[in-house]
This record gives sequence, C-alpha cells and structure tokens, in this order.
Amino acid sequence: MARILGGITTSHIPSVGSAIANELFDDPYWKPFFDGYPKIHAWLDEHKPDLVINIYNDHGLGFFLDQMPTFAIGAAHECRNEDEGWGLPALDPFPGAPEVSWHIIESIVADEFDITSCQELAVDHGFVVPMQLFWPGAPANPDMPRAIPISANTVQHPIPTLKRALAFGRALRKALLSYPEDLKVVVLGTGGLSHQLDGERAGFINKEFDLYCLEHIVHDPDKLTEISRMELVEKAGAQGTEFLMWMMMRGALGGDVTEITRNYHIPISNTASGTLLLECAA
Ligand code: DHB
Ligand code: FE
Repeated sequence: MARILGGITTSHIPSVGSAIANELFDDPYWKPFFDGYPKIHAWLDEHKPDLVINIYNDHGLGFFLDQMPTFAIGAAHECRNEDEGWGLPALDPFPGAPEVSWHIIESIVADEFDITSCQELAVDHGFVVPMQLFWPGAPANPDMPRAIPISANTVQHPIPTLKRALAFGRALRKALLSYPEDLKVVVLGTGGLSHQLDGERAGFINKEFDLYCLEHIVHDPDKLTEISRMELVEKAGAQGTEFLMWMMMRGALGGDVTEITRNYHIPISNTASGTLLLECAA
C-alpha cells in the first residue's frame, strides 16, 4: 500500500531558477528565502520518498486560455520541461510513474472528479522550480523520486473553489492509499501566498492574510473553505489564487499532521513566499 509521508509547500517563482544557477544562496536578498530549505532537505534525506505528486498550476505552457482544464493529471512516462522565455534553460525530463497516474485517474474519476488525463504534458516553472529547490541538481539528483504532475486552473475564471480543492486532495489521498504496492509518497503544493503580477495592484502582498492561511492550513483547513474565490483574489491578489494548490496538497495529508518547519518571507520577486513541511501521522 502506498503511504503518504507528508506534504511540502513552496513558492515557484522563475527567478529562483536563476538564483540557483548563480548560487546566490548567501546573497543578502536571497538568503532569508533559501534558509527555509535545509530542514526540508534533511527530512527528505531521512525519508527518501519513492514518488512525488507535484501539485502546481500551469501558467500557459502545458495549457493555454483556449483549452484550460480545471484539474489535470499527467500520465506520461516523463514530465518534459520547455523554455518559457524566462531566460532559464529547459531542464532534462523528470521520470514519471504512469501506472500510478492511471490508478489515481481511475480512483478519482470513480469519486466523481471529472479530471483531464494527459498522456503528454509539458511542465513549467510551477513544477520544475520546486523540484530544484527540494532535490538540488534535479532531475539528475540520485534521490529524485519519480514524479506525477497535477495541475489546477488558477488562471482563467471560473477557477475551482477552495472547498473543491480540499476535496480533490482528499480524493487523491483515497486513491494513493488504495494503491496496492509499497510506495512512499510526498505531495507538493507549489505557488505563492499573496501576489499579483500585473494591473493596478501589481506587487500587492497581504501579510495578515498569509499568516491566517498558514495558521489554518496546518490544523483547520476546512475553516479556509469559507473563503470565496472573490475574497481570495481580493485578499491574496490575482495570482494568490495559487493557494488552491496548497489546499489540494493539504487534503491529501488527512487529518492530523505535525509541522516540521515553516518559513515566511516577503517579498521574493513579487511574491509572498511560504515554505511549510507537514508530516503525516505514521
Ligand atoms: C512570480 C510569481 C509567480 O507565481 C509566477 O508564476 C511567476 C513569477 C514572481 O513573483 O516573479
Ligand atoms: Fe505562479
């Protein structure tokens, strides 16, 4: 049976990729951000997951406004990265786990989530930057687990509700726990806390709301389902909708979790960055 070890959140901003390439770990601007990761490295090193479910939002590489699935699951034998125009070289492909992807798809559709299954899906910075943060040198890092991408629409309204995102995560948990082979799984929720990249409120950050979300996602994620989508955009900014990824991740962890580490830093690029490692009960 697959076992869910825990969940990790992180911002996924593209400039992290160039900070990593230029080894700016001790640079005064970047250090408070990168300081959030060593405890996570130690935890991953101790637990060595076999599989990572990377819950991220595509930003226009895999899907575009003409075709925008609400929830999509990758089922290819590899997750292919491509140049998005941020000045970052495309990374080598990440090995997939198609047999587990199809098990999840079967289970989650039986649970009445009408997802899009993708036998080919190019993955963008929302997927690859967190992989580089957690498994330095990824995908070449020898500890890099096989990966399954799950993307939700945070771009084109109507986006899913926080309640639906949490319920999706719970259906994902059920799917994983019913997988017949032994597998140690870690679930990522990638994306910022508050941020807005364009328009009159570009640069908008809301520390008070971020801290409220960080607090409740650990012990009472259901409380956060009271936040409407309009309220989420108002309080977290247009791209703060990426918090949906965190809710999906949290649903997959079940009830009780132990917080292993937390880092909150503002701003990094235009984003409030939150790094959280939650361990599941054994
Ligand atoms: C930034 C944040 C994002 O979530 C993103 O997808 C791209 C850029 C930023 O703050 O620069
Ligand atoms: Fe983003």
